[in-house]
Amino acid sequence: MKDNNESYCIYPGSFDPVTNGHIDLIQRSSNLFDKVIVAILRNTDKTPLFTVEERMKMLQQAIRGFKNVSVVSFEGLLVDFVERIGASVIIRGIRAISDYEYELQMALMNRRLSNKVETVFMLPAESYSFLSSKLVKEIAQHGRSIRGFAPDYVEKCLSRKFRMK
Ligand code: PNS
Repeated sequence: MKDNNESYCIYPGSFDPVTNGHIDLIQRSSNLFDKVIVAILRNTDKTPLFTVEERMKMLQQAIRGFKNVSVVSFEGLLVDFVERIGASVIIRGIRAISDYEYELQMALMNRRLSNKVETVFMLPAESYSFLSSKLVKEIAQHGRSIRGFAPDYVEKCLSRKFRMK
């Protein structure tokens, strides 16, 4: 349970798989908050490439260098999860204007569902502004290197996954 003097934030997402853009935002959040909880959505309409457990393992590797970051998974509505663990801030990344419309809709709906929860938008480094899990998967699927876009262990997991398919 949360210590009331500490500032907690939740960084939710699909992380299918984690990219360097996500890691950049984790790092920026970990400088701003006492604790960052990276939360992987379990029940989603999307069909993920990686299982929640695989995504969790990749994220656990990614956060090894950060003392105040942990990874969990959640089901159901994000605001219910945020309230349950006693946090009040949701972190979302905005890469380009095209992200804004969807993010605005989600943030306002989450605010309507819970007035205790605020969404904080953060910008990743410009060098990651074109990066997405979807593109990383597509590049890896066609046998090209994703070096610089995701950590080496993610690249290994992607090659293994596509060899298995
Ligand atoms: O990485 P993604 O896929 O853009 O993350 C989307 C995510 C997980 C943040 C969003 O789909 C979500 O919060 N889902 C949980 C269900 C929910 O709360 N839906 C209402 C949102 S207004």
